[in-house]
Amino acid sequence: MKTVVVKCGGSVLKELSDSFFNSMKSLIEDGYQIVFVHGGGPEINAMLEKMDVESEFKNGLRVTSREVLEAAELVLSGSMNRKLVRMLEQKGIPAIGVQSSDQGILRADFISQEELGFVGDVTAVNKNVLELFLQAGLLPVMTPIAKGPDGTVLNVNADHAAGAAAYALAADHLLMVTDVPGVLKDGKLIPSLTAAETNELIDSGVISGGMIPKVKTALKALQSCEHVHIVSGKKPFYEGGKWYGTLFNKEETI
Ligand SMILES: Nc1ncnc2c1ncn2[C@@H]1O[C@H](COP(=O)(O)OP(=O)(O)OP(=O)(O)O)[C@@H](O)[C@H]1O
Ligand SMILES: [Mg+2]
Repeated sequence: MKTVVVKCGGSVLKELSDSFFNSMKSLIEDGYQIVFVHGGGPEINAMLEKMDVESEFKNGLRVTSREVLEAAELVLSGSMNRKLVRMLEQKGIPAIGVQSSDQGILRADFISQEELGFVGDVTAVNKNVLELFLQAGLLPVMTPIAKGPDGTVLNVNADHAAGAAAYALAADHLLMVTDVPGVLKDGKLIPSLTAAETNELIDSGVISGGMIPKVKTALKALQSCEHVHIVSGKKPFYEGGKWYGTLFNKEETI
């Protein structure tokens, strides 16, 4: 069975359209099995604001103190995960919430404790648990919180978490759903990108902030994944076998 890992941005979770869920249903009808990983950026920011803690990012990654980690886990596991599972169920897609630090579904190690605090990069994925859910006809919805070393948990950028899940599951597609139609330049959608073109756009500053971990994940995922796309959650992303958004290509197109 073909597998699609869908990373759903916290940026768009509240704005997911009916047409987005119709595209999801088309994928299921066309024989794809689906695993979700979600983020929670704006809601974590809002929670930190309430706590009077400033949000700080380095290259699109959230600097995570112990206090920020607790807030992030609360928002991701307690609010965003619940919302997404319920939305899928309301649309008739049987789903189940997965706390990724349980059973080391995601394991991670510090990227740089000095620079970023409790932020991890995924080192292993327990895909057996995910496959059990898939075999039971349930769509797993994963939080981007991983089991770290020595009993810690680590905050993982959800794009990175989705890339790691796609690799472990040998997914055919990695789909990153966000609040913009794809990678934009001068406000216009770039329909396809190679690694060289993407790196140029990072260097020139056209790609910035939260788009940086997304495109870096896309390029890394191309090593194992046939198709990598960034799409909008506000519109359909898949209709009649056709995909929208920005598609990442392994090779230069001639
Ligand atoms: N060249 C670009 N094209 C499109 N978006 C860009 C570009 N450069 C920077 N961005 C920003 O990247 C944002 C998407 O990343 P962001 O991390 O904010 O959302 P997300 O990953 O979907 O959500 P979350 O981080 O909550 O999971 C866009 O809303 C846009 O502001
Ligand atoms: Mg992001």
